Amino acid sequence: MSIYGDYIKSVIRTVPDWPQSGVNFRDITPLLQNRSAFRKLIDSFVHRYQEMGIDAVAAIDARGFIVGAPLAYELGCSFVPVRKKGKLPFRTISETYTLEYGEAEVELHSDAFKRGDRILIVDDLIATGGTMLAAAKLISRSGGQVVETSTIVDLPDLGGSQRIREAGYGVFAVCS
Ligand code: PRP
Ligand code: HPA
Repeated sequence: MSIYGDYIKSVIRTVPDWPQSGVNFRDITPLLQNRSAFRKLIDSFVHRYQEMGIDAVAAIDARGFIVGAPLAYELGCSFVPVRKKGKLPFRTISETYTLEYGEAEVELHSDAFKRGDRILIVDDLIATGGTMLAAAKLISRSGGQVVETSTIVDLPDLGGSQRIREAGYGVFAVCS
């Protein structure tokens, strides 16, 4: 949890029964609309990572980009998009992961960073952890050193962050 964790949590909206009955969807748009909260959010990540020698922020399509781009700018490092299948035009490597129903795939350009680069992975939310874990495996397979996986919201009851840690990656969440 970050210094602003309780405050950030207070400006995230829960939408019941969306996108389907029984799901409490954590909606970050009120947080993004609130300029003080948005600044504190980015500052939370900057504060944690500014002395960690990050070479690139790898952000996950699409909501991870909202955090990843300003963070990379502030850290003075490069930005790497981890995209959903079929969006990247050059040579890609991909990782498939399981969804509740079916499968999904994330992709990375094969020249996105140099071997041994220190990579921070960011997304907006960890639920089952499938997306973040697939991104971490992709970065590792490409020769990147995953410094940490990082998110605005962790939903610990769904077990995703634990799964990611058990796979050997660190997890930081601004709030849970
Ligand atoms: C959401 C969220 C994470 C992922 C979390 O993305 O932004 O990337 O699901 O779920 P998981 O931990 O169970 O994998 P979504 O696929 O809805 O894409 P979006 O960012 O394009 O809205
Ligand atoms: N909010 C946003 N994205 C998500 C959620 C949620 O509650 N669950 C899975 N992806």
